[in-house]
Amino acid sequence: MEDVGKVKQRIEELREIVNHHNYCYYALDSPEISDAEYDGLMRDLRQLEADHPEFITPDSPTQRVGAPPVEAFAAVEHPEPLLSLANAFSYEELAAWHKRATNLLGERGFDLVCEPKVDGLAVALTYVDGLLVTGATRGDGYRGENITQNLKTIRSIPLSVPKEAPPRFEVRGEVFLPKAGFRKLNEERAKEGLALFANPRNAAAGSVRQLDSSISAKRPLDIFIYGLGWVEGKTVPDTHWEIMLWLKSLGFKINPSITLCHAIDEAEECHQRWVESREDWPYEADGMVVKTNSIALQQELGNMAHEPRWAIAYKFPAIQGTTRLLDIGINVGRTGSLNPYAVLEPVRVGGVVIGRAALHNEEDIHRKDIRIGDVVVVQRAGEVIPEIVSPVLGRRTGEEKVFYMPSRCPVCGSEIIKPEGETMHRCTNAACPSQALERIKHFVSRGAMDIDGVGEKLCQALFEAGLARDVADLYYLSREQVLGLEKMADKSAYNVLDAIEKSKNRPLARVIFALGILHVGEEYAELLAGNFSSIDNLAKANQEELLSLPSIGPKIADSIVAFFRQEGNKRIIGKLRKAGVRLEREKAEEVKPEELPLAGLEFVLTGKLESFTRPEVEARVKALGGKASSDVTRKTSYVVVGADPGSKLAKAQKLGVKTLNEKEFLQLLDQNTSPF
Ligand code: IVH
Repeated sequence: MEDVGKVKQRIEELREIVNHHNYCYYALDSPEISDAEYDGLMRDLRQLEADHPEFITPDSPTQRVGAPPVEAFAAVEHPEPLLSLANAFSYEELAAWHKRATNLLGERGFDLVCEPKVDGLAVALTYVDGLLVTGATRGDGYRGENITQNLKTIRSIPLSVPKEAPPRFEVRGEVFLPKAGFRKLNEERAKEGLALFANPRNAAAGSVRQLDSSISAKRPLDIFIYGLGWVEGKTVPDTHWEIMLWLKSLGFKINPSITLCHAIDEAEECHQRWVESREDWPYEADGMVVKTNSIALQQELGNMAHEPRWAIAYKFPAIQGTTRLLDIGINVGRTGSLNPYAVLEPVRVGGVVIGRAALHNEEDIHRKDIRIGDVVVVQRAGEVIPEIVSPVLGRRTGEEKVFYMPSRCPVCGSEIIKPEGETMHRCTNAACPSQALERIKHFVSRGAMDIDGVGEKLCQALFEAGLARDVADLYYLSREQVLGLEKMADKSAYNVLDAIEKSKNRPLARVIFALGILHVGEEYAELLAGNFSSIDNLAKANQEELLSLPSIGPKIADSIVAFFRQEGNKRIIGKLRKAGVRLEREKAEEVKPEELPLAGLEFVLTGKLESFTRPEVEARVKALGGKASSDVTRKTSYVVVGADPGSKLAKAQKLGVKTLNEKEFLQLLDQNTSPF
């Protein structure tokens, strides 16, 4: 018989070895063994754990990937709020900050620590008894989202810390996607025709907030720890600089550029050096954080409402250039919106050639007084889509032309309208080819039918070849047709058709969202799916029925009714049904309503909740068999009271209806929601 004790010992040894190499590779960027050797160690460890699952521990390096997707992120209270930073845009502003601090401290000199302000998202990592137990986003500073599973996929975050670490403590840092990873991710997305991430921060935030942690695991995310949140049970060094060294010794990744300065002009020199070198950094940074080094002085200076007095973000200047605005082009979006963009004389700004820039709408163009032919200032913030800041008025010749949205659609020639209260102009023709293409792109996108492998480029190719004129045509493609497209190999044709086939079973809410009904986003789609159980029921719903759902107003109700009235849309739904796309809720979703935990209970929400939007509350209540209504009556079981409640609270009190605060309401939902 196998000696179980020996197996356990070997597993522990392997973990220690793998952790050591992870640290060398991910935190120190200096591997000691080859990738192949590392893979071999991981393979051995996985095998032993597979044979002896009783020895799997949550901090094992094998547990970084592949936890089952979570439904939604739970809220996490931050015991100490995560503050933001005030900005300084010039040396004068930095010096003014320094002077204020000096005055408050009674003219005592103090050391400063400078750190790159990495552009990513702030997280708080809590360790208890040596293990990473919670990883949370900053959220509003007081409450964030629990994204532990996803953060565990980041190799430079230690899952456990050495024994000498305090029993309970929290570190804070910035999760980011290095420039190379960002570029690669966008290149892949472009190839697949998926929407590009506008900048590394968005890409990092999007990656870390994936409900399925295996998606986060595929993104090359990294972290720099920049401070300590709170500590219990141990004294820690008394300067920020020493704390960072100490955190490094515990296995945390610290930015190697961190610099200790003894005076404000040294900080200024550091800033100047970084302005020069930051384009070469492997990550995006938009400034330099300056912190007082002594923790005692930090405490003495204290915090204002949202920002500390002991630190400031000294921004790097934006990367700008000037060029000529040659023309303003227009894309027609899925809902018919006319999206203007700038066509620029190509110009090099911070090492990147820019030929296009975002222009948001006509109002924005007029507000900035941008005219065709103007010399304009363009700005690139990191890898963000470039923007036009302003025209250079001194270089106007009088030949420039004011831009107006056309009165006819540039694609189909139909009439353009600008609905009251909206900023966007729209094409009125539902059959506009440009809209049709955009609708197909939306249909296949993530969050909608999520047809992997059918990206924007492929949609365009299918559309232009006449193979997909509407979304339902996708389900009628043959292998020959797909193979006939340019650059389509055998294997990819197979993958495309396979992905399309698989999408036939998407949940009803996704199908509703994918149809692209004006104003019906993911949340409303979820709510509608929960209330109507099938596309047919939804299509039959009249204004009144739709309006009886508390969060649906006349604008959305009108749009839904109008959508299902259109012959073209009816035809598409018929085609989807015939192709075998599921247009009802899954059987498993249909537990007998009277058996659901909140059956027979009626809820009314008043005020704003922190963790849910109104449609989410309604969807959750409904999913558990309860009813959400808008009026408080004697029949109401509970009134859920959020911040700034309305008159419904008084009415509940008058009628003696029970009230729940947000925490109690969450508890009620959680008690009745299976953790599996
Ligand atoms: S210190 C109270 N250090 O900047 C101290 N923040 O505007 C606040 N950030 O939310 C944080 N790099 O996401 C600090 N080296 C650094 C940072 C940094 C990036 C971000 C962080 C924070 C935001 C503050």
